[in-house]
Amino acid sequence: MGLRPFRRILVTGGAGFIGSHFVRLLLALDVPEVVVLDKLTYAGSLLDLEDVLDDPRVRFLHGDIADPAAVTEAIAGCDAVVNFAAETHVDRSLLAPAAFIQTNVWGTMVLLEQALRVGVQRFLHVSTDEVYGEILVGAAREADPLRPRNPYAASKAAAEHFVFSYWTSYGLPVLVTRGCNTYGPYQYPEKFIPLAITNLLSGQPVPIYGDGLQERDWLYVEDHCHAIWTVLVHGKPGDTYNIGASQHRPNIEVARAVVRLLNADPAAIVHVADRPGHDRRYAVDWSKLAALGWTPRTPFEEGLARTVTWYRHRADWWTARRDEAFAQYYAQNYGNRSVPSSEPCR
Ligand code: NAD
Ligand code: TYD
Repeated sequence: MGLRPFRRILVTGGAGFIGSHFVRLLLALDVPEVVVLDKLTYAGSLLDLEDVLDDPRVRFLHGDIADPAAVTEAIAGCDAVVNFAAETHVDRSLLAPAAFIQTNVWGTMVLLEQALRVGVQRFLHVSTDEVYGEILVGAAREADPLRPRNPYAASKAAAEHFVFSYWTSYGLPVLVTRGCNTYGPYQYPEKFIPLAITNLLSGQPVPIYGDGLQERDWLYVEDHCHAIWTVLVHGKPGDTYNIGASQHRPNIEVARAVVRLLNADPAAIVHVADRPGHDRRYAVDWSKLAALGWTPRTPFEEGLARTVTWYRHRADWWTARRDEAFAQYYAQNYGNRSVPSSEPCR
């Protein structure tokens, strides 16, 4: 049976970074109704939806994807689910992994159960390239084995296995995307790029884990959202799609680019003790998604300049997010890191 136009889409985690951009994209695409279910953890905020909350097509529900009652209410009448809701920060998963299992694995299970019950047309689970583990050479393809190496990545891999089990066991029309590192406006400042920008804007150093030669592939958030939409509409149920940008940069180069854009002092970049088990490099082959007609549009230097400008103008947004709870996390994660890593470079 062909896909009918979506009438009402449930976006979980829609008050977070990528989810809030995806809500904007759905509205721009004239999707008639968008339901956002978000727990508003430290990472989520209605400030991320500031420009769309008054739109009559948007309904916001404050709730937990691991709570069947909240999901039952949110999913009623929806013909698609896009699951962004997650605990997302690797460093926090190293400090306290339990919440990652609760939301990323159990929460996904609750959503799958309810999606099966109401019979949605599509269940798109937003996953990450981190499930492959570090890719020292070449690029991971969708059929490659999953070798997650930190608790965040392990919880995302575990969730994926349950998602696929609902396809093979019950025929729920699932899709999985594995996106690479994403950046842009409204990203909570614990992540590397917004941390670098907001630290420099507040006169603090930029901490670089270890030698800073770890590589990530950087994707602009709007490109990530278009990729997810492409998979939602054109993807084959039961399939997985890598989302990459082919714009790999070593972390130290990213930090230097941010310093240049802000005319800051290069001495503000400081090497600190490395993240345990730090994945050296991620890379995905995204030719399967390209075959559906998607391609990333934003060159890294352009997207980074746009992002820096946004944070420069939105001190109101990021100072509100860098609150007391952020300061506590910062002290916990960075307090004992001042000694440069003594580990040899691999
Ligand atoms: P984020 O941390 O900015 O936002 C996560 C959102 O989920 C927040 O609004 C939070 O309140 C909400 N949430 C957390 N637990 C919840 C729960 N139990 N119930 C309901 N809502 C809950 O994350 P993000 O960067 O926007 O990532 C979104 C998704 O994309 C995640 O699944 C993540 O694994 C995936 N992803 C992110 C990146 C990246 O670089 N940011 C890359 C690839 C994949
Ligand atoms: P991050 O944004 O946490 O994403 P991920 O770990 O999921 O890729 O980090 C991106 C890269 O930047 C990663 O290699 C770790 C590094 N990093 C630092 O060097 N210093 C920092 O303070 C942070 C948060 C990250």
